[in-house]
Amino acid sequence: MSDNKVQIFDTTLRDGEQVPGCKLDTEQKLVIARRLDDLGVDVIEAGFPISSPGDFKSVEEISKIVKNATVCGLTRSVKKDIEVAAEALKYAIRPRIHTGIGTSDSHIKFKFKSTREDILERAVQAVAYAKTFVEDVEFYAEDAGRTDNEYLARVCEAVIKAGATVLNIPDTTGYCLPEEYGAKMKYLKENVKGIDKAILSCHCHNDLGLATANSIAGVINGARQIECTINGIGERAGNTSLEEVVMILRQHPHLNLDTNINSKLLFDTSKMVSDKMGMPVQPNKAIVGSNAFAHSSGIHQDGVIKNRETYEIIDPAEVGVTESAIVLTARSGRAALAYRAKNVGYELTKKQLDVVYEEFLNFADRKKEIVDEDIHEIMKITKIEAGAVA
Ligand code: KIV
Ligand code: ZN
Repeated sequence: MSDNKVQIFDTTLRDGEQVPGCKLDTEQKLVIARRLDDLGVDVIEAGFPISSPGDFKSVEEISKIVKNATVCGLTRSVKKDIEVAAEALKYAIRPRIHTGIGTSDSHIKFKFKSTREDILERAVQAVAYAKTFVEDVEFYAEDAGRTDNEYLARVCEAVIKAGATVLNIPDTTGYCLPEEYGAKMKYLKENVKGIDKAILSCHCHNDLGLATANSIAGVINGARQIECTINGIGERAGNTSLEEVVMILRQHPHLNLDTNINSKLLFDTSKMVSDKMGMPVQPNKAIVGSNAFAHSSGIHQDGVIKNRETYEIIDPAEVGVTESAIVLTARSGRAALAYRAKNVGYELTKKQLDVVYEEFLNFADRKKEIVDEDIHEIMKITKIEAGAVA
């Protein structure tokens, strides 16, 4: 792997599917897995095989059909979990077991009623056991965001010795600030012996709306894998959004970091996941929301009509959106009205536009948005015929 490649680990079918109401059956998961493989993700986390017979079956079926990506199954640091995951992954061309344990003092004390030393030992045993089934073993230090860095480094060092190929540093509760999360990665890079044998991975939750920023801070500071979901769906406020991190890296080439993602499939994939999960995408969602390339204020519309780059940093075609939308509202100006009128067949002179604009404002004050039918109606009232020549 080249050093400027960031691996995309998609967990839509595991962390994403944990969302209440987003449950998918095996058939639906297979359709999404195929699409993720086409999209170019490096790893598909297909499920948590021991959690239910349905999840086991999904991981097994996905393992059979995925051609390019690594297929991964989640486990706790429990022997039975690891055995079941290995069984579910047996058809995968590139199988990965993702095992781990909580490492923050809060998890150690309240969840496990244990000690740091015991948790470290359990982590090592889990990785060593997973390694007897597959070569590729990812270790997660759950709640790493709130784990003391010195202890986290000791755990990382020990699991690398046990054979971990990837170290997942989850900000499970979405607590960290980008500076803090980036500094954590830097600390691990600088203080864990053998760190060059493993890939550091960002796994961020969005409780404070910082999942994407934290993941980017992570890769700037040495991580080379981002765990994310389509549309940012996931536990509580969600996970890092795949489309956001991919486009941030692409829009900032000076970072010299990129992914293998075919960005032209992003919009369609977002829609597919939203439809299958019955989870609508908020209109103002970055990259894939319905308003992400829609312009409604007069000043912006005038700029975009003159040159798209005045108010758009991404060419919509790059993410599979056909074109920018000029939305007509009471805040729109003459340029936008003339542009939309031309699109439906009316080429207006300046004088005609003045008349039509007055009527347009009357309509727009009554309606939230003026659609093509309204334009025809306005033209009828102002006695302008389609094809009128400027
Ligand atoms: O958020 C988290 O800590 C997780 C782990 C199970 C990887 O999803
Ligand atoms: Zn998570």
